[in-house]
Amino acid sequence: MPKSIKIKTKSSPSSYEIRIGQGVLRNAGVLTAEFLGRMPERVAFISNRKVFGLYGAEVTSSVGDAGALRSVSFMGEGERFKNLRTLVDSLEFFSTASLSRTDAVVALGGGVVGDLTGFAASVYLRGIPFIQVPTTLLSMIDSSVGGKTGINTPFGKNLVGAFYQPKGVIIDTDTLKTLPPRELTAGFCEAVKQGAIAGKELFELTEAILRRRSGKDLRHQLDDRAFSSHFAEFLREQLKFKARIVSGDEKEASERTDALSRKILNFGHTLAHALEKVTKFRYFRHGEAVGHGIKFAASLSKNLGLLSKDEVTLLYDVVHMAGRLPAVAGIDPRDVFAALKHDKKVIDGSLQWILLKGIGEPVIVPHAELDRPAMKAAFKDIVRS
Ligand SMILES: NC(=O)c1ccc[n+]([C@@H]2O[C@H](COP(=O)([O-])OP(=O)(O)OC[C@H]3O[C@@H](n4cnc5c(N)ncnc54)[C@H](O)[C@@H]3O)[C@@H](O)[C@H]2O)c1
Ligand SMILES: [Zn+2]
Repeated sequence: MPKSIKIKTKSSPSSYEIRIGQGVLRNAGVLTAEFLGRMPERVAFISNRKVFGLYGAEVTSSVGDAGALRSVSFMGEGERFKNLRTLVDSLEFFSTASLSRTDAVVALGGGVVGDLTGFAASVYLRGIPFIQVPTTLLSMIDSSVGGKTGINTPFGKNLVGAFYQPKGVIIDTDTLKTLPPRELTAGFCEAVKQGAIAGKELFELTEAILRRRSGKDLRHQLDDRAFSSHFAEFLREQLKFKARIVSGDEKEASERTDALSRKILNFGHTLAHALEKVTKFRYFRHGEAVGHGIKFAASLSKNLGLLSKDEVTLLYDVVHMAGRLPAVAGIDPRDVFAALKHDKKVIDGSLQWILLKGIGEPVIVPHAELDRPAMKAAFKDIVRS
């Protein structure tokens, strides 16, 4: 079996394992049996044609070799297919494939496939074992861990869903070799976000990977042994951080309440959601909007006297190392500020911002406490950058 890293989460009610490594997809069958404690009779895959075309044969033949009967269903590619129609199709597929509660479902793809498949698995027969095989950087470090599953409705994103933990997660870093550059940038922006709220160590590890990658092709770099082990360490630390927050350890380590600790993951997201909304979800990849959101939150933190100029510069630099972001210059800040009011994270009717008083020191500030000039100046900063 290829060398891999194991992370054990502490989520309730059951913990699960995350396997990270190069080439681990070819062990999907053995890993499925390990995660479930036995080989299921049937394994149903949900993917899209693009990802399945790249990695489907490897994963399904490994599962077949391990002795399971396999069936596959394809969903459309893209966020707009994370909807009720696809959910219904998936549930029908599970029934047609005669899946029982002792069988398993595998999500092969990015966050869209993972969120939808996890939700379908959570409601089919009131819950059937589910394995995540994330193939985008964003889904590797973010959406595959934490148990949030769901779909979009015409009223907004992720409005219907469930908390449902997978039995295990298989992360093959080789799958990143085919990921389009914008998707990589989006994933790296989420990594910068996690580093910025986690602390200096994770931030510096993320920065170091981005510096090493700068201007180079990740495809070739991942073939380099030294780089790929550095990269695996980066993924492992990112995942450990996310797993720690969602499993509640973070609550014990700090004096935050559980709700508070969850909220900090929204760093950079308040502005990002507004940017995505005013551009009708067509202009930015979500992670790219988060890149701008990080810079905005950094500038805002500085304008409120929380963050030093040097730290703001550092945050801007590291976001830029993640990749080129679509410009915000053509977007009217008045539209963005109006859209903020409708953020779904509005809690008790009041919008909250996650700001920083240092790297790894998030603070929660109610929107009502911010003055308009500080916000306008921060927006100017991101337009200029
Ligand atoms: N559940 C959570 O906690 C959580 C957290 C963050 C985001 N999300 C959700 O994740 C979704 C975004 O996920 P995403 O960024 O992974 O996007 P995505 O799933 O849309 O994938 C991006 C694109 O890359 C393609 N692709 C995937 N893997 C590939 C590969 N290895 N090679 C080539 N192409 C590949 C996909 O087909 C797609 O076109 C959103 O729906 C968001 O709401 C969920
Ligand atoms: Zn995000």
